[in-house]
Amino acid sequence: MLYGLARERVRFAHPALSRPEYYVPGLAGEYVARRYGIAPGDIAKLGSAENPHGASPLAKAAVADAMDRLHLYPVWTAEPLRHKIADTYGCQPEQVVCGAGETEIISLAIRAFCEPGGKVLMPAPCFPIYHLFAEAEGRVPVLAHEAVNRPAMALDPAAYAAAIGPDIRVVFITNPHSPSGTWLDEADVRRLIEAAPEALVVLDEAYVHYSDTPGYIHLAGEYEHLIVLRTFSKAYGLAGLRVGFGVAARPIIDALLAVKPTWNMGQLQIAAGVAALDDNDHVARTVSTIAEARQHVQGRFGELDRFRMVPGSRSNFFLVEILDPDTDSTEVFNGLLERGVIVKDGAVSWRGLDDRFLRCDVNFTERMDRLVDALADMD
Ligand SMILES: Cc1ncc(COP(=O)(O)O)c(C=O)c1O
Repeated sequence: MLYGLARERVRFAHPALSRPEYYVPGLAGEYVARRYGIAPGDIAKLGSAENPHGASPLAKAAVADAMDRLHLYPVWTAEPLRHKIADTYGCQPEQVVCGAGETEIISLAIRAFCEPGGKVLMPAPCFPIYHLFAEAEGRVPVLAHEAVNRPAMALDPAAYAAAIGPDIRVVFITNPHSPSGTWLDEADVRRLIEAAPEALVVLDEAYVHYSDTPGYIHLAGEYEHLIVLRTFSKAYGLAGLRVGFGVAARPIIDALLAVKPTWNMGQLQIAAGVAALDDNDHVARTVSTIAEARQHVQGRFGELDRFRMVPGSRSNFFLVEILDPDTDSTEVFNGLLERGVIVKDGAVSWRGLDDRFLRCDVNFTERMDRLVDALADMD
C-alpha cells in the first residue's frame, strides 16, 4: 500500500525509471554449483572476464596496510592515485578522474556531457552499461547496428563515423571491442575522434592489457574532446574492489569532478590502485596466461562442427557463433551450465547480438578445455 501511495506522489525524473532495466552480469559460480549439484571447484566461470590469477599481490598488501586508515575520510579526488596514474602515463594529476570502476565514470560522462533528452552513440552490440546508463539518466541511446559488421563482428570505422550526426553528444568506442574483442588501430581511432568534434568521445580501454599494445592514453593529451577510460578490474584483478579512471583534458575532468559523488573512492580503493600500478609482474603473468590460452582454445575449436570461434579477439573473451540452425544460444548456454561451464548468452546479455552467439572468457587452458569438451558433448 505504501508503495502505491508513494507512486502517486513521487514522480520519476523521466519515464524510463518507472520500468527500469538492469545490467545482466555473468552468473556466480556458487549459484551454478548449488543449482546443478556440482562441486564449486569444478565450475568453469567464463562469463565475467575476471582475472584467473586473482588480485594483484601488491594491491592486497596495500589494502591490508590501509585498514589503519578506515576511520579517515579519503581525499575526495583520490589524490594519491591521481598522482600515481599521472606518473605512470605521463600526464598531469589534474587530467585524471578516479571512479568506482570505469562504470562510474561512464555514468558521470553521460551526465556531464549529454543534456537530458540528448543522444549518446554506441555500436551495437556494445558494453550494455552505455545504453543502460543513458536511459537511466533520461538520455537517448542511439545504437549503431550498421557499425558492427558480420560475420567478423568487428567495428567498421567508416560505418561508425557515418553514424556520428551533429546532434550526438557522447560517442563510445571500446578497444578492444566488447563483446568481440576485435581491435582498432590508431589511425581508425583518430578518424572516429575527428569525426565527432562536437561530442565527448569516450574511448573505453578496459581490456587493453590483453591487446599487446600500450593503448591510446596519449591521445587524451592531443584531443580536447576525448576521455580514455581504464579499469583495475581486469589485468590487475581488482573487480571486487571497484577502481577505474579516466584521462582527459582538464576542463573535461573538472566537469566530471563536479558531478562525481564526492567521496566516491575509499581508502582501500586508493591504496590498492596505487600499489597495483607497480605490479608489473602480476599483469605480465596474467597477460601471458591469457595469450597462451587464447591460442590453445582457438586450435581446439577446429574440432567442433556446430560452433565457430569468431576470430580476431585481442581480449580475454571471444564470441562463439552457433552454426547449427536447430539450436540457439539459450539452449547452448543452459546445456553448458548443466556441465558446469558459465558463459554469456548473446540473446539475453546484449542488444544487437542475437541467439546465434555466446561470449566466452579466456581463462586457464584447463577451463578452455572444459568449454570445448562441453560443446563437443552437445554435438
Ligand atoms: C567494455 C567494458 N568497459 C568497462 C567495464 C567495467 O569495468 P569496471 O569493472 O571498471 O566498472 C567492463 C566490464 O565488464 C567492460 O566490459
